[in-house]
Amino acid sequence: MTQKKGVILSGMRPTGRLHIGHLSVLENWARLQEDYESFHMIADWHALTSDFDDTSRIDEYRRELILDYLAGGLDPDKTVIFIQSHVKAHAELTLLLGMSTPIPWLERVPTYKDQIQQFNAMGKDINTYGFLGYPLLMAADIIIYRAGFVPVGEDQGVHLEFARELVRRFHYMYNTNIFPEPMPVYSKIPMLPGIDGRKMSKSYRNDISLSASTKEINEKVHEMVTDPARIRKTDPGHPEVCIVNTYHKIYNEDAEPEISEACRGGRIGCVECKKRLAAILDNTLAPVRERRDRYAGNVELMTETLRLGAEKANARAEETMELVRGAMRI
Ligand code: TRP
Ligand code: SF4
Repeated sequence: MTQKKGVILSGMRPTGRLHIGHLSVLENWARLQEDYESFHMIADWHALTSDFDDTSRIDEYRRELILDYLAGGLDPDKTVIFIQSHVKAHAELTLLLGMSTPIPWLERVPTYKDQIQQFNAMGKDINTYGFLGYPLLMAADIIIYRAGFVPVGEDQGVHLEFARELVRRFHYMYNTNIFPEPMPVYSKIPMLPGIDGRKMSKSYRNDISLSASTKEINEKVHEMVTDPARIRKTDPGHPEVCIVNTYHKIYNEDAEPEISEACRGGRIGCVECKKRLAAILDNTLAPVRERRDRYAGNVELMTETLRLGAEKANARAEETMELVRGAMRI
């Protein structure tokens, strides 16, 4: 094996199918797997921190997320793909770290009070021990693989900062040096609005799923909001206020200036403009769909992939736990 540049770990919570906005995240992981020893997990325990009262769909969501990982280009020969709850040592490390983690550190994580309030506004109380411990479990997820790099969205930056502080405290307290301080790896992730212009989210039903069929793509693009000033094709348009144009800019970069000019000059109609976008999106998602289907129809392959993933993850995690138990003399 060629020399790798370091160890990467990242993951997502299984809360439903991913949308095309997530594609760039997965593509980034897929690129990194060439140069880094990569671990990518399905954070099912993290999903429980807010969805503890309804676990009926968690298994379905786990499967969807694995398929999305594979569809996005993660290669099980290059990346360890596994389910968090299949590696019990994450729980052990969380417990051990928790002995010395000051509660105010957890309460001070900026997302903590915000999220509690957001859930409160929706009539849900997540003022629980588990939710308070979210960043602690996440830190354990990372450092148990002695990962140095964590490709995540910028919203996760505060959790990474917490993990680094925890590592420093642990090293100081037990006079050891087991863990690298994990660094976030941010990539340029285009801000992709939903088809109605709001933030893309499954719960708004304004998303285009990563596994959308050609028909679904056509329907969603058809529903996209355009420049309201345009009624006839010859009306001069304002692409800068049009969602279709935002998408052309991201997925059809080369042709976008020409299309925008035609829109401004009243030389292209919205129907044609949308057709061109739908074709491009369909092209973008075709290989993703193909990879998804290859696994979706093969339960044994999926099971085997996850079994192997769990085996490799457990081996690495157990190695770390030996060091941790040694340092803590437990
Ligand atoms: N908190 C992350 C999110 O919501 C998911 C996650 C759990 C994670 N454990 C992790 C991400 C470890 C990176 C590393 O997206
Ligand atoms: Fe939007 Fe295209 Fe219609 Fe212009 S032509 S308003 S960019 S859909």
